[in-house]
Amino acid sequence: MNLPFAENYRIKMVEPIYRSTREERERWIAEAGYNVFNLRSDQVYIDLLTDSGTGAMSDQQWAALMTGDESYAGSSSYYYLKEKVTELFGFDYFLPVHQGRAAENVLFSVLLKEGDVVPGNAHFDTTKGHIEFRKAQAIDCTIDEASDTESQHPFKGNIDLNKLRNVLETYPNEQVPLIIVTVTCNSVGGQPVSMENLRQVKQLASHYDVPVVFDSARFAENAWFIQQREHGYEHKTIREIVREMYTHADGMTMSSKKDGLVNIGGFLAMRSSSWFEKATMFNILYEGFITYGGMAGRDMNALAVGLEEVTDRDYLESRIRQVHYLGNKLTEAGIPVQQPLGGHAVFVDAGRFLPHVPKEEFVAQMLTVELYLEAGVRGVEVGALLADRDPITRENRYPAVEFLRLALPRRTYTNNHLDVVVAALKNIYERRTEIKHGFEIVHEAPVMRHFTMRLKPI
Ligand code: F0G
Repeated sequence: MNLPFAENYRIKMVEPIYRSTREERERWIAEAGYNVFNLRSDQVYIDLLTDSGTGAMSDQQWAALMTGDESYAGSSSYYYLKEKVTELFGFDYFLPVHQGRAAENVLFSVLLKEGDVVPGNAHFDTTKGHIEFRKAQAIDCTIDEASDTESQHPFKGNIDLNKLRNVLETYPNEQVPLIIVTVTCNSVGGQPVSMENLRQVKQLASHYDVPVVFDSARFAENAWFIQQREHGYEHKTIREIVREMYTHADGMTMSSKKDGLVNIGGFLAMRSSSWFEKATMFNILYEGFITYGGMAGRDMNALAVGLEEVTDRDYLESRIRQVHYLGNKLTEAGIPVQQPLGGHAVFVDAGRFLPHVPKEEFVAQMLTVELYLEAGVRGVEVGALLADRDPITRENRYPAVEFLRLALPRRTYTNNHLDVVVAALKNIYERRTEIKHGFEIVHEAPVMRHFTMRLKPI
């Protein structure tokens, strides 16, 4: 008998969590305006809101915190991190920032102007927010299979080269300052991009003289899928795959809160000295001096160790196996989820779960609230609320699929916790036809409304 694969760590410190009653949760979610972002964390039993900044650090990372160098300029922690970034990704120029969207803000301040277009694969909401805030446009060129949750395409994060070519043909070069490839692609289900696709995108981009930047929040999970699913990579190490991936990019933005294995932080790295020179100015203006950029020295140390740990094959295997443990149990129960399972989360297809509910009533939010009421489990809507309004027409945008995302913090929950999630969703699935009434919006902000909006049941 083959021995099962278990976690590549054991637990040294624990944090108690509280299992509330349904009556408490009914009161709390109403007080929160039916928006799970407005809940207090102690009102949540199992928190799958996000895998961002919510993971557990290793003892080696905690040890590295103690030796952080807090010098304003020239910190040794900065050099330690810079060397790690250059070694892993091959970029000579590097700027620390306080998180992923800060990297977007600095880079787009250099590259973007009003009227520009930025093609990519389902840009993340902050990325799109920063583009639209500058009165530019994000154009989604993801392959069509990504929005068919039953398709078993192994790389649903891929860019459709015909769609990309069409954008590059339609708009003059001055209007397309960059292409953004998100690895893995969060918005369509933590779906990977193949090495072949990365290579082809870069080739096409070079032909039109447009630079390519990778949104790298989950770069290591992407490399793991390439190793598992792409011919010719099964014997390469994760670090070799990462290095090869980034030969097809001119730069990267990074939210270290995911595959940096830390609670806060980010960075920007690039090949061009002229980008770096301009970005330096904005970094100093928005983030901090170039050798800390909004991060404490100790946090840069912990991130350098995190980047080493996240590119370890055994770490990635236990990480992604846990996500698949949850996804497989839901699939066995007949619950529709994005297939094949992705890297950081299981994406439940709320439209297929509650087919009798019109999308105008925010079907994925209904399922999100139901799950919270059932078991105190907090997922998040990745549907029409997140998709926000069209910046010009102000009409609601309805995405091709309405998802409830169950994101797994790294090294945090056990499979017993996930069994609670599975049981709760099974209970809801059994009584799904009784779930009828959706939500209407009573308050929303002009940009990125989902974080602060308030709803009421119809
Ligand atoms: N890019 C991707 C692909 C992301 O998933 C995120 C954040 C960001 C950029 C922005 O990074 O949060 O550090 O500013 N995603 C989180 C999530 C919030 O829940 O998926 P940030």
